[in-house]
Amino acid sequence: MKIMNSKIRLVNACYGREVDRTPIWIMRQAGRYLPEYRAIRKKHTFHEMMHNPELMEKVTMLPLNRYELDAAIMFSDILVIPEALGMNFKLVPNVGPVFNNSLKLNETIKKLNYDDSYFFNIFKGIKNIKKSLNNQKALIGFSGSPWTIACYMIEGKPSKDYRNIRALIYDDPDLYHQLMNKLTNTIIEYIKGQIEAGVDVIQIFDTNGSFLSKTNFEQFSLPYIKKIIKTINEFKIPSILFVKGGGHWLELLEKTEANVLGIDWSISLKHAKKQIQDRVSLQGNLDPAVLLSSNQNIAKEVKNVLQSYGRGYRHIFNLGHGITPDVNTDAVQTIIDTILKESPYYK
Ligand code: CP3
Repeated sequence: MKIMNSKIRLVNACYGREVDRTPIWIMRQAGRYLPEYRAIRKKHTFHEMMHNPELMEKVTMLPLNRYELDAAIMFSDILVIPEALGMNFKLVPNVGPVFNNSLKLNETIKKLNYDDSYFFNIFKGIKNIKKSLNNQKALIGFSGSPWTIACYMIEGKPSKDYRNIRALIYDDPDLYHQLMNKLTNTIIEYIKGQIEAGVDVIQIFDTNGSFLSKTNFEQFSLPYIKKIIKTINEFKIPSILFVKGGGHWLELLEKTEANVLGIDWSISLKHAKKQIQDRVSLQGNLDPAVLLSSNQNIAKEVKNVLQSYGRGYRHIFNLGHGITPDVNTDAVQTIIDTILKESPYYK
């Protein structure tokens, strides 16, 4: 088959249409493992990098300047949503994002108010990125899921168990649902703006999904994710849903009607495909820790992922979670080389 343009390759894989090889992008591909990212970060705050449209474009393009990836993911963070609602966070070294005010009380949740001007520079940045990509590569927009974002808002910082929001579900379910509705409506506005500015695909990150029991996920998180995916589908662009740990709940995730389900390394793609058949596409699922191993091991494990999915058009190669800052840049080159060489045999 003729070599395809990357944007078409990724979109086709999302919809299960014919592709010449497996498309590839990497969660957190524009991040601290790149020396050029660290150099920019020395001169600018994280917030400047997200909210200056020129810088946002520059940082988004860093991994594409180095590697033959099929997609760019806009440089931003899932925590812009609480900021658009009036909260503020700082990145604290060795801790992560910390909010200046966490949200435990009824009045503080009621006070959250959506400021639509907050996203303007992000939408400008998307337009700049689109120009650079020139329709050759896909542009992925994204949002966090309401649940995962709320975990950070209620806790105020990263946590090992997010038990305050888990307790809120039992203590005051009405207040919890009020918060979810506010978040869902804001996320939908944000996503519509991203689509109008030109993103080609949207991924929903539900990194904290599996802190919930399966029944609570179904009752307290899934309906909101479903509503968001319905909006994306109405715009006729592909949707990817990544629920970390969600491989064990595929029958629930399928109900969202996302075009693609992102899978972490806790289940094999073979197992996921057996269950999901050809009804949706699958994204993943190399264990990011493999990238700390030798290039020989990396090549072997990338082949294992391809083999585990087997033949078909509905696979997007990715890690099972974000790339970590301690990864060597050669490791990513090894992934790309292996995919370019091996994946056409599986089509
Ligand atoms: O994928 C990409 O390259 C696009 C950019 C992107 C970032 N964060 C940049 C970032 C995306 C898609 C995210 C999503 C995100 N942010 C998630 C969901 C995905 C996941 O990885 O679980 C979550 C939970 C967050 C919240 C967040 N932001 C945390 C926990 C942290 C600190 C921990 C860490 O990994 O450093 C951030 C900061 C952050 N977001 C950095 C980057 C590149 C590091 C910033 C820096 O110090 O330079």
